[in-house]
Amino acid sequence: MRIYDIIQKKKYGEALTKEEIEFFVDGFTKEKIHDYQASALMMAIWFNGMTDEEITDLTLAMAHSGDMVDLSDVEGFTVDKHSTGGVGDKTTLIVAPIVAACGGKVAKMSGRGLGHTGGTIDKLESISGFDTALSKEDFIKAVNDCGLCVVGQTGNLAPADKKLYALRDVTATVDSIPLIASSIMSKKLAAGSQGIVLDVKTGSGAFMKTVEASTELAQKMVSIGNSAGRKTVALITDMDVPLGTAIGNSLEVKEAINVLCGKQKDDLFEVCIALASNMLCLVHSKGYEECEKMALEAVENGSALQKLKAMVTAQGGNAEWIDCPEQFPKAEFSYDIVSENDGYISFMDAQKIGTSSVILGAGRESKEDSIDFSAGIILHKKTGDRVQTGDVIATLYSNKKDSFSSAEKLFKNALEFSTDYTKEHKAVIKVIK
Ligand code: URA
Repeated sequence: MRIYDIIQKKKYGEALTKEEIEFFVDGFTKEKIHDYQASALMMAIWFNGMTDEEITDLTLAMAHSGDMVDLSDVEGFTVDKHSTGGVGDKTTLIVAPIVAACGGKVAKMSGRGLGHTGGTIDKLESISGFDTALSKEDFIKAVNDCGLCVVGQTGNLAPADKKLYALRDVTATVDSIPLIASSIMSKKLAAGSQGIVLDVKTGSGAFMKTVEASTELAQKMVSIGNSAGRKTVALITDMDVPLGTAIGNSLEVKEAINVLCGKQKDDLFEVCIALASNMLCLVHSKGYEECEKMALEAVENGSALQKLKAMVTAQGGNAEWIDCPEQFPKAEFSYDIVSENDGYISFMDAQKIGTSSVILGAGRESKEDSIDFSAGIILHKKTGDRVQTGDVIATLYSNKKDSFSSAEKLFKNALEFSTDYTKEHKAVIKVIK
């Protein structure tokens, strides 16, 4: 078999066989196939797509290119969630404790933020002492003891995807449904959970900008998961506006604590309850209403918050910060963004707002950059809210005072106003099983 012939075949739009896909993934992982050949194949796939069978073969080959995490020592049903990435998306910090409080086992590997989107690992590391690099034994023990544990992805989880994703990132081949579906699902299958709930974001802050494209991606991923023997469900959720009101690492942890204390019932709460309830449906094989009731009760009776504290303690973090969030270090400087308009906010470009938080220091412009955990944005107004000239729309936080002017410029550029606003805003758009 020759990689040249495989590229040629895909260039003419023909379907690749399982053997050809495995030959490519194996050769690329072992560096026998060069980056320029893999790039050519990715571009041919971008133009010509893949059949469902090819997508499944690619996913399985990438999942098996490294470690397949064995969670058989976890007692109970293991369930994972994955978000395709967004702005203000702190759902894992809320959903995992709710599910653990209701009997699910969440053994989760998460990523760091890159670009305009945040990452769960960075958020957790804003808690003093929190360790996201546990050994396999400590990871399993924490899941058995507390019901949940969140660690960073191990180096050898789907290495083929890691290499391929880095290449796609620089060759304009990220935005391909077969490639995104296989990339995400290879990591989910390798991470080992029996159930998977996918949070597929749609809108200005998401990879997929339309509900149609998000639905197609979700359907492919659900079908891959189910055919690999994992119970898989996807939710399409709105990312046309940042989720909740906080953007930036410790600001988001504080917001998650607020939600778990039952003090915040907004779009963030709605998405978290929907994700947790769907995960519980997989765990307990029960209907949605019953599982939703369990999830709501776990917030009301404080058991979900106790689970967050148990996880923080088990992973070396200072759980006092969960009881007293005022202990999170604050940014030295703050700056209010004031409305120059009367009317309604009719649109907030989530990607631009995410990038504005990166300018303040909340994210990385490149992988090597360090993060300012206290930097970020608190939104006081969101899409659909009425504002008057002089109202504070958002407060920016940073330790770099000179970052405010460009962050403010970009933030203001993200906003559109109108004299009325009647559009219905749905946080959870649909569920795909
Ligand atoms: N996230 C991934 O893990 N892979 C993609 O291709 C896109 C988003």
